[in-house]
Amino acid sequence: MKQTHIENLLNKETLLPADLGELLRTRGEDRLLLFAKGAEVKKQYVGNVVYFRGLIEYGNLCRKNCYYCGIRKDNTCTGRYTMTDEEVIDAARFAFREGYASLVLQSGELMSKSHRQQITRLLQMINHATEGKMGITLSLGEQDMETLAEWRNAGARRYLLRIETSNPHLYSRLHPQDAQHDFKQRIETLKMLKNLDYQVGTGVMIGLPFQTIEDLANDLCFFRDYDIDMIGMGPYIEHEHTPLYAYRQSLLPQAERFDLGLKMIALARIMMKDINIAATTAMQAIDKMGREKALKVGANVMMPNLTPQKYRENYLLYQDKPCTDEEAEQCKKCLEIRVKLAGDQIGYKEWGDSKHYANRIKRKTD
Ligand code: 5AD
Ligand code: SF4
Ligand code: FES
Repeated sequence: MKQTHIENLLNKETLLPADLGELLRTRGEDRLLLFAKGAEVKKQYVGNVVYFRGLIEYGNLCRKNCYYCGIRKDNTCTGRYTMTDEEVIDAARFAFREGYASLVLQSGELMSKSHRQQITRLLQMINHATEGKMGITLSLGEQDMETLAEWRNAGARRYLLRIETSNPHLYSRLHPQDAQHDFKQRIETLKMLKNLDYQVGTGVMIGLPFQTIEDLANDLCFFRDYDIDMIGMGPYIEHEHTPLYAYRQSLLPQAERFDLGLKMIALARIMMKDINIAATTAMQAIDKMGREKALKVGANVMMPNLTPQKYRENYLLYQDKPCTDEEAEQCKKCLEIRVKLAGDQIGYKEWGDSKHYANRIKRKTD
């Protein structure tokens, strides 16, 4: 049977920005072909196994003022918190007991000697409490080389730092113009993480004000060119207590942002076959079945929330964030059902390292 134009594109060795733009605009039958290809590549290269990363939202203090984010420093409408050592260790023990094998420690961006030492201490305590078997991921914003090296030595294996957008001009419209919010510094930090042999995750928001389809196509090329190991991305969702809320009239409808999110996941899977891709919570904030749909088109990681319920309403990066009334146990049960609905299995007790990272390190040492 003769292949259609879209099928030809989907089988191309190297997708160019113009191809990606075309694929991001697909509708009807062509759109379904894209999703089917994402599913096929996932099955072939990473299998139908989903890895759980327990998410600990450690605190919402942040030194930055990103225009889109609900926990930005100048938002006085949110209460601020930091989890106690004991709460963090309890969450880590829960994850260990449940066979998650991996957790993510995330917070707003803080930079100080005491913060650095506190995280090092927590890493040591988590390692101790979980017999060194937990694959620990950090998501603590930009840090200097010394700090990142210290945390790596203390047992952190992975780091998530979203580039947010690969377009420096768009980046500058989403952040204050100062040294703290510098696109170049963000790129430098990603490079440092790679040099320190972290497994590196990055990602973008989809459907931001002023963002074009071409920007998204370039984001995918950025992930490929930077040879990253993991991607976490999801739709931008407006938050009323942020400066970007003023531009809400100019946004794509939420359903379209969500659909672009699915297409970005499918394309990321097709282009970077062996990386880990998260089915993010923001996908579910728009569509009740959002995370299952993300798994179906190429994602293979889910992040059950482990944050104690009393803190959750204060970690609202965006409005309508799911799971604010639940405890860890409920999120676990909920996600188990969701993974089954998507036709996948859960890889309990497996670190689920990005296969891409293993291949990358092997290339480096060969
Ligand atoms: N909508 C969607 N995602 C957001 N993030 C922050 N604010 C929003 C928002 N309004 C994402 C950013 C950040 C991550 C922790 O949360 O991409 O890197
Ligand atoms: Fe802070 Fe991250 Fe929010 Fe920016 S996106 S304000 S760095 S928590
Ligand atoms: Fe938290 Fe569904 S994952 S309630």
